[in-house]
Amino acid sequence: MFEQPSLVVPKSCGETALTITRELGLLGRGFRITLANGEIIIPLRRKPSREELSVLQAKLQGFKISSHSFRTKRKRPRDLSEALTGLVPSSLLSHIPRSFDIIGNIALLEIPRDLSDYSDAVAEALIQVNPHVKTVLAKASPITNTFRTRDFKILAGEDLTLTEHIEHGCVFRVDPRKAYFSPRLSYERQRVSLSVRSGEIIVDMFAGVGPFSIMAAKLGKAKKVYGIDINPEAVSFMLQNIMMNDLRGKVSAILADSASTPAQLLEHVADHIIMNLPKESLPYITQACDFLRPEGGLIHFYTITSEKASAEAIVSLLKARVENSGRTVKAIKFMRDVKTVAPREKQLAIDLEVH
Ligand SMILES: C[S@@+](CC[C@H](N)C(=O)[O-])C[C@H]1O[C@@H](n2cnc3c(N)ncnc32)[C@H](O)[C@@H]1O
Repeated sequence: MFEQPSLVVPKSCGETALTITRELGLLGRGFRITLANGEIIIPLRRKPSREELSVLQAKLQGFKISSHSFRTKRKRPRDLSEALTGLVPSSLLSHIPRSFDIIGNIALLEIPRDLSDYSDAVAEALIQVNPHVKTVLAKASPITNTFRTRDFKILAGEDLTLTEHIEHGCVFRVDPRKAYFSPRLSYERQRVSLSVRSGEIIVDMFAGVGPFSIMAAKLGKAKKVYGIDINPEAVSFMLQNIMMNDLRGKVSAILADSASTPAQLLEHVADHIIMNLPKESLPYITQACDFLRPEGGLIHFYTITSEKASAEAIVSLLKARVENSGRTVKAIKFMRDVKTVAPREKQLAIDLEVH
C-alpha cells in the first residue's frame, strides 16, 4: 500500500474526473483506483497546483483533494524469463521455451528435460504472461495411433481440454485429447483454400475436425466439400464446426475409412483432393485419383521426410503411384517445407496437378 494524494469524486463523475486528471498529467499510474461509499478515489502523482485546481473546479462538481493508501497494480511480466526470474535457477533461464502452440485458450508446452523439475512453475508463468490461456498441457505420449491423437498432462490452469480456436475467420471446436488439431497448419489451410476457385468440389480425405474443409468452403468459396475421417470424435467435432461456421449443406462430414470410402459416392467428383495424413498418405494415392474428376485436378499432398531426403526422390515415388492408378502427374504446381516435426524430420507440402 502506498500513501498518495488523491482526487475524490462522486461515482457519477468518475469518467470525467479520470479524463481531466489524465489530460493534466496528474493521474498516478501504477496504483489501483478505489471505490468506497459511492465515491471514486483517483490516485494522483502529486498535489494539484493552483492552476490545476481551477481547471478541476471549472469542470467537476463536488470533488475533494485528499490522501489515500492505494494498492499498487500488479505488473504483468513481459515474458516467461521475467516471470520465472527467482523461481528457476538463473543457469536454466536460457532453456525456457520461447514458443509454444496455442489452440483456443489452451497452450501446449514442451518442457526441456533440464527444466522438468520446474514444469509447474513454467506452466503457471505461461498463464501469468498470457492471461487468455486458461489451461497448459504437456505432451504425455507420442502420436502412434490411427486417429493421430496423444495423451496430455494438465500442468496448470483449468482441468478442461475442450476449446474453440479461431483461424482466418473460421471457428474450430476441438478437444486435442480426442481429435487431432495443429495450429501450425494455419498458413497451409489458408494457402490451399485460396487455391480453390468458386464452384469447385473438394474431397478432404483425412479431415479431422474439419479445418481444411471448413476453410476451403468459407475462404475458398468451394461449391461442396466432403470431409472424411475415421475418428468418430473428430467427425462429431467436424459436424459442430460445420454448424458453427454456417456451412450446413456446403460441407459434409463423413465417418469412414478413406481407403474404402464409397468410391461410388465420390467417384470422379473432385477438383481438389486434400491428403493431410503426413506419415501415411502415399498408399491412398489410388483412392485420391479415383476421387478426382476425369479431366483432372489438384492433389494437395502432405508427407514427412528426413531433412536430407531429396525432393526429386519423393516426387518420382508420387508420379509412379499416380501412374499405377491410371493417371498422370502433369506438373508439380507447388512445394514447401511446412514445419519441423522431430529432430531432422520435416513436413512437406506438394501440390500435384493430375490428369
Ligand atoms: C494428421 S490428422 C489431420 C487432420 C486435419 N486434416 C487437420 O489438419 O487438422 C489425420 C486425420 O486422419 C484421420 N485418419 C487416419 N486414417 C484414416 C483413414 N484411413 N481414413 C480416414 N481418416 C483417417 C485421423 O483420424 C486424423 O483425424
